[in-house]
Amino acid sequence: MSAAITTESSREVRVTVRDLVKTFGSQTVLQGVNLDVRAGETLVIMGGSGCGKSTLLRLLIGSHKPTSGSIHLLGQDIASISDEAFDDIKRQFGILFQSAALFQSMSIADNVALPLREHTDLDPEVIEMIVKIKLELVGLRQHADKLPSQISGGMAKRAGLARAMAMDPKILFYDEPSAGLDPVTSAEIDQLIKELTLNFAVTSVVVTHEMDSAFMIADRMLMLDGGRVLKVGQREEFERIRQISDAEATTLSDDDQIIRQFLRGAADGPITRRRSEDDYREDLLGEDFHEENAIRAKVPTKRI
Ligand SMILES: Nc1ncnc2c1ncn2[C@@H]1O[C@H](COP(=O)(O)OP(=O)(O)OP(=O)(O)O)[C@@H](O)[C@H]1O
Ligand SMILES: [Mg+2]
Repeated sequence: MSAAITTESSREVRVTVRDLVKTFGSQTVLQGVNLDVRAGETLVIMGGSGCGKSTLLRLLIGSHKPTSGSIHLLGQDIASISDEAFDDIKRQFGILFQSAALFQSMSIADNVALPLREHTDLDPEVIEMIVKIKLELVGLRQHADKLPSQISGGMAKRAGLARAMAMDPKILFYDEPSAGLDPVTSAEIDQLIKELTLNFAVTSVVVTHEMDSAFMIADRMLMLDGGRVLKVGQREEFERIRQISDAEATTLSDDDQIIRQFLRGAADGPITRRRSEDDYREDLLGEDFHEENAIRAKVPTKRI
């Protein structure tokens, strides 16, 4: 086989997570997460509200410390490297969080220029040129001098993306990049994520609730449930589970049935069923409360 052929598995692994556990007080939010993301690959992380997606992203960017387990970015264990070495890694990843988090008193151009001014010794003219290129890439070059308050939410997201890309990162982390956007703007953001992955071999880790968007951008997908990875695999595998008919669905494993309900956004299924009446009863009356007492107390059996 020719050495020029790059197979998926031969591409450099840029993000590695092993046995990652995170607890807050007595609550275990992540219970043993494992994943790898390679150069030029987009991994989409999905899961219900509160299942630990943002916590996982915060751990990946070093703003939370793992309770146990390890995270390697660009081959380095981020828990054990020096602050200087971590700063060097930080320069190689970009972040687009739910709110674009632009500085309100600075123009769009200055927001994008900020990481370049902070982390490089480039001449102001060079920075100006890079800013123009990044803003052109997200279609905002004409709005460079506006303040964040003078642009729409979708434009702010795109400006946030331009800023995240300012340093030509190897890895981009996104937390719900299309939340709150109209379908067309959302599709534009998806397109940008795809182009970055394809044209610049960026590694993208994207948390999203939007299923159309997830299937549009993902190479691989990961489903989190209660801090546990139910499945990580190729997009096609998740697509197959999504398409399975009601009749065939009964043959799926419990985990796959949860995934199917989530991907289809169905109101009925294991996710809704497990929020059982018993939980409600226990929540109202405490774990030691017996069934017969519950009946005597006429505990309502339906959620309102
Ligand atoms: N700093 C913190 N201190 C204590 N608990 C936290 C902290 N951050 C997150 N949690 C808890 O961890 C759980 C997971 O939160 P997380 O924000 O990761 O969920 P999520 O999957 O991103 O949800 P959503 O889809 O609603 O954004 C929640 O129960 C939350 O209350
Ligand atoms: Mg979140």
